[in-house]
Amino acid sequence: MAMDAFEIKGGRPLSGEVTISGSKNAALPIMAAALLTREKCVIHHVPDLSDVRFMVEILKSLGARVEFDGDTVVIEAAQIREFGDYELIRKMRASICILGPLMGRLGRARVSLPGGCIIGARPIDLHLKGLRALGAKFVIRGGYVVGTGSHLGGAEVFLGGRVGPTVLGTGNIMMAASLADGVTVIESAACEPEVVDLANFLNAMGARVEGAGSPTVTITGVKQLHGAEHTVIPDRIEAATFAVAAAVTRGSLTIKGARPDHLGAVLDKLREAGVKVGRRGQDIVVERSRNRLKPVDITTQPYAGFPTDVQAQMMVLMLLVPGISVITERIFEARFMHVPELCRLGAEILIEGPTAIVKGGRPLSGAPIMASDLRASAALVLAGLAAEGETVVKRVYHLDRGYQRMDEKLRRLGARIERVPE
Ligand code: EPU
Repeated sequence: MAMDAFEIKGGRPLSGEVTISGSKNAALPIMAAALLTREKCVIHHVPDLSDVRFMVEILKSLGARVEFDGDTVVIEAAQIREFGDYELIRKMRASICILGPLMGRLGRARVSLPGGCIIGARPIDLHLKGLRALGAKFVIRGGYVVGTGSHLGGAEVFLGGRVGPTVLGTGNIMMAASLADGVTVIESAACEPEVVDLANFLNAMGARVEGAGSPTVTITGVKQLHGAEHTVIPDRIEAATFAVAAAVTRGSLTIKGARPDHLGAVLDKLREAGVKVGRRGQDIVVERSRNRLKPVDITTQPYAGFPTDVQAQMMVLMLLVPGISVITERIFEARFMHVPELCRLGAEILIEGPTAIVKGGRPLSGAPIMASDLRASAALVLAGLAAEGETVVKRVYHLDRGYQRMDEKLRRLGARIERVPE
């Protein structure tokens, strides 16, 4: 694989307007949901990302016809099989969201176990528990999860896990239950906006999903689903990343086409830190401020709490603020991969179990650093924008999985950032 790096010359405030792309984490399960019907589904505002391209290939390997043109994906799953390309599916954790649709439509599935991932073990026990409650049977054979179950039936399912609800697990049960006989009630469902977007798409296909966005979701199964057209919500994590980017460079930014109502916890923390951030319609506006920023403590939580996917970026802001802030990661157990890399730039961070103690206010100075996972990579780029001198972020393919042309977007805002072969 050809690998790229970013060369960043830090110290320049961002300014201008940036437009947010469609949500990766909404688009992936919505694309998988198109497997539930033989008819054509048209999905707009899909971000052009390597994870989305993976999902296109996975759907094709299951027999669907897929076209991806501009930001629109057209999927026609007239005839599908339960068995896709092992290697493709293994590569992307989110591919687990084909399990629910395959079980719902075919009553059979064979997917490779999503491999251990750098941000923690990421088990799928809750997905399997939920589908089993609907009557599916699973065995693990030769590295595959093999599901059978003929036709599924509605059931009551409690999906609260060790650390709380599961986002993709909730999606999988909603998708399978849409074609099951009878009524399914999910208790302790994930409330993330991406779950609501999936429910809206399913309902546009003729499903009967109620309560998405709350901890109790009720799905009344229907005989079949039909084709539908849908526009994916904006990516709240991309929007949050740009808001933090504005703050770390002491810049001013209008973040267009975001959904500020999806970002309550992030905007609240930014304000608490002293960042001047407001909303104008669907835009988020970060104003340059000369105020001294204050350290804030952050604990990641399921929605509507502070998102784990913005923890790493926020840590960079805290590095620049004199004082101590305490950042606690409650969703994934190993999501501090960015910390040793940030320390190469001169950061002082102590890790104590799930907590990072950040001693902010020391100047950062550029260095070669390496990206490890998607959100950690975004944090390293922000640190490079704030640091003095040149930072080289290697392995930016992690970033390309989830941010559409981030380097181009940043360059248009005045950042000095170049993509170079590694
Ligand atoms: N968990 C279990 N058992 C399960 C499923 C999850 O114990 O069967 C645990 C996980 O290990 C984790 C917690 O439950 O500790 C929450 O995981 P969840 O299932 O909610 O995560 P996910 O659905 O696999 C999605 C996003 C992640 C995001 C999380 C949390 C997609 C494709 N991925 O993952 O996004 O961090 O929800 O909000 O939607 C990212 O975009 O960088 C990313 C990692």
